[in-house]
Amino acid sequence: MAKPKPTLMDQIVSLCKRRGFIFQASEIYGGIGNTYDYGPLGVELLRRVKEAWWEATVVTRADVVGLDSAIIQNPKVWETSGHVGGFSDPMVDCKKCKSRFRADHVDELKCPEKPSKSPRECEGELTEPREFNLMFQTFMGPVQDTANVAYLRPETAQGIFLNFKNVLESMRLKPPFGIAQIGKSFRNEITPGNFVFRTREFEQAEMEFFVPPDEEQQWYEFWKNERFDWYTRFGIDPAKLRMRDHDKSELAHYSTATADVEYEYPFGWGELEGIACRTDFDLQRHSEASGTDLLYFDPQTKEKYTPYVIEPAGGINRMALTFLIDSYEEEQLEKDTRVVLHLHPRIAPITVGVFPLVKKDGMPEKAHEIENELRQAGMATFYDEKGAIGRRYRRQDEVGTPFCVTIDGDTLSDDVVTVRHRDSMEQEKVQVSELRARLTAAQFEWTRPERKAPAADPA
Ligand code: GAP
Repeated sequence: MAKPKPTLMDQIVSLCKRRGFIFQASEIYGGIGNTYDYGPLGVELLRRVKEAWWEATVVTRADVVGLDSAIIQNPKVWETSGHVGGFSDPMVDCKKCKSRFRADHVDELKCPEKPSKSPRECEGELTEPREFNLMFQTFMGPVQDTANVAYLRPETAQGIFLNFKNVLESMRLKPPFGIAQIGKSFRNEITPGNFVFRTREFEQAEMEFFVPPDEEQQWYEFWKNERFDWYTRFGIDPAKLRMRDHDKSELAHYSTATADVEYEYPFGWGELEGIACRTDFDLQRHSEASGTDLLYFDPQTKEKYTPYVIEPAGGINRMALTFLIDSYEEEQLEKDTRVVLHLHPRIAPITVGVFPLVKKDGMPEKAHEIENELRQAGMATFYDEKGAIGRRYRRQDEVGTPFCVTIDGDTLSDDVVTVRHRDSMEQEKVQVSELRARLTAAQFEWTRPERKAPAADPA
């Protein structure tokens, strides 16, 4: 019997392991559920996604500043925010195999003993749904009792609300302004995660934008557009993105409006990022619970008010996964197929592969010299002298390296190299003295290439 063709997700998972992007955490001990480690290329991918987000959200805006708050805060924070009482999923247990499933996802899940069936279809009876809190608990100090319970933060947002006054006063800000933060969050997720789509430990990129209450709607629209455009600017296929407004039944009780940027993953449409109107709920609650005035005093109108908040909240790991899936192509060429990641040059973990055509005649020395120059100029480079040149190009295509530079006889005689472009596979001759400028310009010139084949699995 012919082996079934691996699914797109299988191919992404395999590429991630084979090429050093993402590994199962604690792999040599059999792994640990929904938890992953990022290898040399994965860590660069994450770093670039974070840089692109930070640059768009903080560096290029005069009205947004950054923050890095603690992961473990006073437990009262999570009581006040509602996470201790309400941050839970309804779970059911299988009385036969003892597995636990999210009650609202049972029909989409597989029975671990009979993977062709859902937990409802197998022979095990399911318990009634019970609420299961998603926060990870730990203990502060040497004594492990209830008085010393602390929590790993389940979102970075609360750290921002806690520092509203500190940042407002120290930076002498006036609404509208934002505080942005990137950092780890932790959730004891039970549902299988579709690789790194849903994990127990993940990085969030969140921004709380504080506005006068009557400007809520205009800033909500602004941030919805801004965040949607960010993905397309970095090459995500607009046909696979949509903005979905939450209907009333989905809204958190304090939210007047929320929308998700969704992507069409191989496993269906899923949330990539949420943009929420959180009103003055969080500042009000923390103000009441802590007894601290978290109002803004407007010196012009002499009025005091609690700002309203617009919150774009995304997951860095989910963004990275989306870039990988969206850029993946098995491109049919005349004689063979190549695997290529059409990543935006700003997102690709390696920017330039540098190759001597052959391992002799002074070419490796010259290639090292050129590679070092590009590296010192801040470009992420990779030197490779092993195997045929075509195979070296293909190895870089597979990890999304947008440019390769080949050093050959012309380089030694005329100081000219060949620049090969990943997407078009076109080659151009460039003077070594102009190489840096040419590669920098090519990064800005990049546009998402037309695909010959659909990236997703056929239905
Ligand atoms: N402060 C609002 C908040 O945390 P959320 O929708 O729960 O909202 C925001 O999380 C984003 O964080 C999601 O859109 C998703 O990208 C990411 N995220 C949430 N849970 C995640 C998980 N278990 N694994 C990976 N990413 C996750």
